[in-house]
Amino acid sequence: MEAGYREELLAALRLQLEWGVDEALEEAPVDRFAARAPVAEPPPVLAAPALQPAARPVLPLVPPPAAAAAALAAAAQDLAALKSAIAEADSPLRDTATNLVFSDGVAESGLMMIGEAPGADEDRLGRPFVGVSGQLLDRMLASIGLDRTRNFYLTNILPWRPPGNRTPTDAEITLFLPFLMRHIELVRPRHLVLLGGVSAKALLRAKDGITRLRGRWHQVETPAGPLPALATLHPAYLLRTPAAKREAWSDLLLLRRTLDGDDAAR
Ligand code: URA
Repeated sequence: MEAGYREELLAALRLQLEWGVDEALEEAPVDRFAARAPVAEPPPVLAAPALQPAARPVLPLVPPPAAAAAALAAAAQDLAALKSAIAEADSPLRDTATNLVFSDGVAESGLMMIGEAPGADEDRLGRPFVGVSGQLLDRMLASIGLDRTRNFYLTNILPWRPPGNRTPTDAEITLFLPFLMRHIELVRPRHLVLLGGVSAKALLRAKDGITRLRGRWHQVETPAGPLPALATLHPAYLLRTPAAKREAWSDLLLLRRTLDGDDAAR
């Protein structure tokens, strides 16, 4: 291979990495322009046809994606059916992700935590919060006696990894929100914990950032009725901003106190 061409290929690869492409989906590249069907030649113009009564325009019957998602979600009668329904929902994210990341933990625990979206490790393993931020989350929660194998349940706003770990778009959140609402309805938790700004904003329908929303209980309207939801900092943010661990710790203590009070009252 010519040295100049090799440099060009390396530069293109570097740029792709910089722009967030961090995984190859197939062994060989696919030239999508070449794969496109050839454009058909327009048919020759023949003699003008006799005038026909105007045909009524045929309107597509396919509902917009969010309505289709809501219908799929509503039809799911249990968690396994909901997972299959999500896998069926049409989304470009499904084409770039490797595994659907549905949930982990104990669905009957009464405590449901909701993160943002799977990262590379979660995508590879098909489970939420298994990468470095998930390990930090596990350590933090262990410090207040919470363990995903015993007493909480975890999911994300998005079930598929956005390419390059970019922030979910509003359209992606809108598409998957009906599935999350049905997820909450099927699990029927007593408390929600919203991990990070994307989760808090999506569920609280708030404009404020997570630093304003965190540290207190809000009320989320769900199909299972209004539920108390604690907004807190995302563990990935804590990895980047260790000084914020003080606030996260105070949120954890608030969670512990509320759970203890709730247990005592039951
Ligand atoms: N960050 C999230 O918000 N969710 C995961 O599952 C992993 C990282």
